[in-house]
Amino acid sequence: MNLKTTYMGLELKNPVVVASSPISKNLDGIRKAADAGAAAVVMFSLFEEQVEKPGVEHPYFPAKEDYFITPDAYFDLLSKAVKSTDIPVIGSLNGVTTKGWETYARKTEEAGAQGLELNIYHVAANPEESGADIEKLHLDILHAVKNAVEIPVAMKLSPYFSSLGHMAKQFDEAGADALVLFNRFYQPDIDLDAMEIETTLDLSTAADIRLPLRWIAMLHGRLNASLAAAGGVQSGKEVVKFLLAGANAVQTASALLRSGSGSEYIATLIQELEMWMKDNAYESVAQLKGSMSQKAVANPAEFERANYIKVLEAYKKKHTG
Ligand SMILES: Cc1cc2nc3c(=O)[nH]c(=O)nc-3n(C[C@H](O)[C@H](O)[C@H](O)COP(=O)(O)O)c2cc1C
Repeated sequence: MNLKTTYMGLELKNPVVVASSPISKNLDGIRKAADAGAAAVVMFSLFEEQVEKPGVEHPYFPAKEDYFITPDAYFDLLSKAVKSTDIPVIGSLNGVTTKGWETYARKTEEAGAQGLELNIYHVAANPEESGADIEKLHLDILHAVKNAVEIPVAMKLSPYFSSLGHMAKQFDEAGADALVLFNRFYQPDIDLDAMEIETTLDLSTAADIRLPLRWIAMLHGRLNASLAAAGGVQSGKEVVKFLLAGANAVQTASALLRSGSGSEYIATLIQELEMWMKDNAYESVAQLKGSMSQKAVANPAEFERANYIKVLEAYKKKHTG
């Protein structure tokens, strides 16, 4: 069975990639992921606030000792990871301004990373900032980084752009080698006992695949950039669904963190993918990829609207007779 796929110009032995997360926080976690069969590992992100001068304080941030890693330590770990595994290691940078990206993108490349993922975590909390401003910020960062490095660059996207398809096209035209759908924005709750804002990060469930699944299916075949799905993988089934929708690669974090065995769960995901392919007479991931995408749909907006009406009608029939 041929599980090979191409993602952001890299040849991957299978489509299962470790998403940026604490799985990569040390060499041991990265090696275990590689040993379990992961096709590539995306490092946890180096945050813009971590690369600023040590004296700069950020009032809402946790104490620096709790989350701080120096850029030197980050690139040292990255370089060791590259040397000690035979799978691609992708660096990850997180920031919200255009400054500094070129420098740290170059350092990522110098450390030997085979790719770079940009995780622009920006919540549009400022009503003075327009959608166009935010789109421009993303594109400026991508342009700066693409000019600075030769390694492939992936944009990890927020699902909240008003025209995601148009944004994806702009990233594509600006030279993004891949789009990762989607970044997981934590959503605050209120703890009524403590009367405090609750800032826990819930791990995903399989229901979370639906948003990225729709967008992967809509974008497949319409861009040069490859597509990675991220969000909701719990078993081989979600991996299969993302591939059918048109993903080149599937990233996973929650399932690995939840499994207790860490990245070793990767082996289970790959086995389940293989089993499904065998049971359904697929010989290669290439054959599977995008076979249920919307590539052949001439008018995706109308298709989506028709489905919406169908869903409402079906609910009415079932529940109200
Ligand atoms: C504990 C934890 C830490 C994460 N840290 C990062 C990070 O540093 N950078 C990043 O781009 N994504 C980070 N993510 C998001 C994951 O890479 C991934 O996009 C998201 O969890 C969705 O995949 P999943 O449903 O398989 O968890 C983190 C996720 C979790 C659960």
